[in-house]
Amino acid sequence: MKVVVFGGSGLIGKKLCGILRAKGHEVTPASPSTGVDILSGAGVAEALRGAEVVVDVVNSPSFEAEAVMSFFQQAASVCLPAEVAAGVRHHVALSVVGADRLPTSGYMLAKVAQEEAIRAAGVPYTIVRATQFFEFVPAIVDAGTKGDAVMLTPALLQPIAADDVAAALAAVVEEAPKNGMVEIAGPEAVGCDEIGRLWLAAKKDPRKVVTDAAAGYFGAELDDRSLTPGPGARLGGLRFDTWLARG
Ligand SMILES: NC(=O)c1ccc[n+]([C@@H]2O[C@H](COP(=O)([O-])OP(=O)(O)OC[C@H]3O[C@@H](n4cnc5c(N)ncnc54)[C@H](OP(=O)(O)O)[C@@H]3O)[C@@H](O)[C@H]2O)c1
Repeated sequence: MKVVVFGGSGLIGKKLCGILRAKGHEVTPASPSTGVDILSGAGVAEALRGAEVVVDVVNSPSFEAEAVMSFFQQAASVCLPAEVAAGVRHHVALSVVGADRLPTSGYMLAKVAQEEAIRAAGVPYTIVRATQFFEFVPAIVDAGTKGDAVMLTPALLQPIAADDVAAALAAVVEEAPKNGMVEIAGPEAVGCDEIGRLWLAAKKDPRKVVTDAAAGYFGAELDDRSLTPGPGARLGGLRFDTWLARG
């Protein structure tokens, strides 16, 4: 099956392309580094020729609220009509668990806008909502840092390894479109503060976590339900502490 991976050079995209190739699919990674720009449309129609499935694992270079909204809206307005024209039979997109529960986050609002555009486009689709990647934990820690202290909320996160995200996406590629959502998450929910402590200890980083319920998530208020998945989520197998121990 021919699968186009928009964002195929990124963290998830590279892993996904490898898994799909190993399963025998014809894979086209599509991003600026392979001559495809989903904002201008350059190379998009050529990449989509003959494609049965498209996976969108693109990310915005800027997380600033207006820039990220404009990025995902423009990308959707270019890609989705091109996919309709090319006869793509399944659009798989990676979004974020709880995106619609953080209305004060510009990034999450942009992901919700991306999801809405997919639902309206007329291409059969599956939206895969993932929790935070293990690989994203340092960014969460850095965002909470004030001097030698790291202010982190005790609210639960259920992070997942990028390898498990890519494996889950590869499985969805081979399934029929849900015209709905699938949630994926790591095997256990842990307080954001505890995740930060585990990360700093593993990296022998001298910063100290201060538990602060008001710390939120990149400025957005967080509780135990905000970013954790519902009961039907597909869970990855790799635990955060096991992943950390691998170095
Ligand atoms: N981080 C998390 O914890 C988390 C959690 C849940 C969901 N997600 C979602 O996961 C997705 C993938 O994240 P990631 O960390 O794998 O991203 P990433 O490593 O930053 O990769 C981004 C990809 O987007 C491509 N790209 C950027 N601008 C483009 C453009 N104009 N046209 C085509 N491609 C473009 C990049 O291509 P070049 O390399 O060629 O520039 C790269 O392949 C995102 O949609 C994000 O919302 C992330």
